[in-house]
Amino acid sequence: MALRAIIPVAGVGTRLRPHTHIVPKALLTVADQPILGHILDGLLAAGVTEVVLVVGYRGEQIVEYIRTKSPNLSLRWVRQEEPLGLGHAIWCARHYLDGSPALIVLGDTIVELNWQELFRQPDNVVGVKEVEDPRRFGVVLLRDGMIEGFVEKPEEPPSNLALVGVYMIADTAALRTALEELLQRGLRTRGEYQLTDALELMRRSGVRFRPFVVQTWYDCGKVETLLETNRHLLHRRSNHPELPGCAVIPPVYIAPSAQVEHSVIGPYVAISEGARVRFSIVRDAIINAGASLEAVVLEQSVIGANALVCGRFQRVNVADDSEIRWE
Ligand code: UTP
Repeated sequence: MALRAIIPVAGVGTRLRPHTHIVPKALLTVADQPILGHILDGLLAAGVTEVVLVVGYRGEQIVEYIRTKSPNLSLRWVRQEEPLGLGHAIWCARHYLDGSPALIVLGDTIVELNWQELFRQPDNVVGVKEVEDPRRFGVVLLRDGMIEGFVEKPEEPPSNLALVGVYMIADTAALRTALEELLQRGLRTRGEYQLTDALELMRRSGVRFRPFVVQTWYDCGKVETLLETNRHLLHRRSNHPELPGCAVIPPVYIAPSAQVEHSVIGPYVAISEGARVRFSIVRDAIINAGASLEAVVLEQSVIGANALVCGRFQRVNVADDSEIRWE
């Protein structure tokens, strides 16, 4: 069966600046692969046969990446000229909301779930997960196993079940109608046309939605969550390179062409192709392709491709019982 996935990747990614000045968020590297690469691997394994991208900011880079990574995939793309919100992004792909089912997956969210079970659900299905503070997410209210309300970033959340960014929409024609209504009536929440609000319009018009609990959900929206995702993925995507003169503390991934010398690497470090690390101590970091580190002690760091970070050794002359702290 042909299965279509719509992936909106038109956002500007302000929370990930300065990295997103150069690279669109979906192509930022985590555990040695772009975020979108991890998402595509999951979708292709699940049986997705057609991908519709909603591109905007640096969209050419994203299209080029997918064409190179998966040349046989049926790939289409539409442009969102202005990032007016996720609802608006999906509206830009309305030509593909033609009545046949479609999976919508955000371009900055990696999930691990039983796709076949998700596809078997009889109604429209949205991925949800319990979170401690749901106020910065779309939130759902449940009754008798069905969704009784969708609210975007509520001040007073009706539950702690957040939308994770995976939507299996059976009634795509109804979604198209709801998005058209959203735009015609100018219904914005926090200045943006929200997909959550369109789902609420659908629900009020009688469309049924079921929640699907997603256990593993990695957000990549900010540097801290990108690093957290890197840590999780390295547990599955690590290697054990022989690096003479180095200490490696797993899990790490060090690309074969990276040159690492006289350093302590790990835990939770991903070093991409052609990067160079010398006389350094690095933990909890993403070092992109071609970057160079020399004489640095780093943690919780993201180093862009071909960037150079060069430290120095300190010289001290300290008497007994003295105390020096570089904090
Ligand atoms: P976010 O809400 O995280 O927005 O989008 P963003 O622009 O990517 O990041 P910040 O908030 O500025 O840091 C979630 C997903 O929806 C897409 C994004 O590309 C991302 O994949 N999106 C969002 C669009 O395609 N268009 C929009 O107008 C908004």
